[in-house]
Amino acid sequence: MRIVVTGGRGDLGGRVVRELQARGHDPVPASRRTGVDLATGDGLDAVLEGADAVVHAASSQTRPQSVDVAGARRVAETLQRLRSPAHVVSISIVGCDLVPYPYYRAKVDSERALEDAGVAATVVRATQFHSLAAFFASAGRVGPLSFAIGDMRVQPVDIDWVAQRLCDHATGPAPSGCRRATDLAGPTAYTAREVADLLATHDGRSVPRIVRVPPFLPVLKGFSQGAILPDPDAEIGGRTFEEWLASQPVPLPRRFHSPT
Ligand SMILES: NC(=O)c1ccc[n+]([C@@H]2O[C@H](COP(=O)([O-])OP(=O)(O)OC[C@H]3O[C@@H](n4cnc5c(N)ncnc54)[C@H](OP(=O)(O)O)[C@@H]3O)[C@@H](O)[C@H]2O)c1
Repeated sequence: MRIVVTGGRGDLGGRVVRELQARGHDPVPASRRTGVDLATGDGLDAVLEGADAVVHAASSQTRPQSVDVAGARRVAETLQRLRSPAHVVSISIVGCDLVPYPYYRAKVDSERALEDAGVAATVVRATQFHSLAAFFASAGRVGPLSFAIGDMRVQPVDIDWVAQRLCDHATGPAPSGCRRATDLAGPTAYTAREVADLLATHDGRSVPRIVRVPPFLPVLKGFSQGAILPDPDAEIGGRTFEEWLASQPVPLPRRFHSPT
């Protein structure tokens, strides 16, 4: 199958591309680096022509309304104009509708854009990737202290497994309209204490003292109250945070994206 992957040079999109290749498909990465700009629509017609499916994994933390939302809308409109019934599989975030954080709002808007367009679409929500959970815990550590938002817990997920599930959806049967797939989450939920201890052990540092920041803003309240934890009916899979951490360099790089 010819499968266009928006954000196909990104962390998740790159894994989707490699997984599709390994399965014998013909993935086509689509992002600014390949001449496709979702914020303007440049290059979309050409890349979507003849696509059997699209995985929408392009995203911008700084311009999510242009890339995640308008990008999803442009993909859907272009497919309709080309009279292509290609199935769009779009990645979203568990609990994005429960936390008033602008990037999360954009994920909800992106889901709605596909729903409103009436194309065959599957929206897959996932919890935080292991690298993001680690990044936030590392960023919250200052010397012997680690700052945590209230009672926040995370149930991070293996990005490679998420990529595999996106590929399963993209190569599987298309729905007749827009549907929400079962949410994806990793096997274990962790407190801030547990994440901080695991990172400290990995890096060979002393375990920090946890300082709880009261969730005084609605966004923080949402995180503290478990809005980003999966429902009991979520699909659980992939490596645990401990297994992922064991595969990472020491010390863990202070960045968003994981090398493997
Ligand atoms: N990180 C997490 O914990 C997590 C959890 C659940 C869901 N997600 C979702 O997973 C998705 C992918 O995340 P990621 O971490 O893989 O992101 P990423 O590494 O930042 O990749 C995003 C890609 O989007 C492309 N892009 C940005 N602006 C664009 C534009 N105007 N037109 C076309 N492409 C553009 C970029 O490629 P170019 O620079 O070449 O344009 C970039 O490689 C996002 O939708 C995110 O919400 C992430």
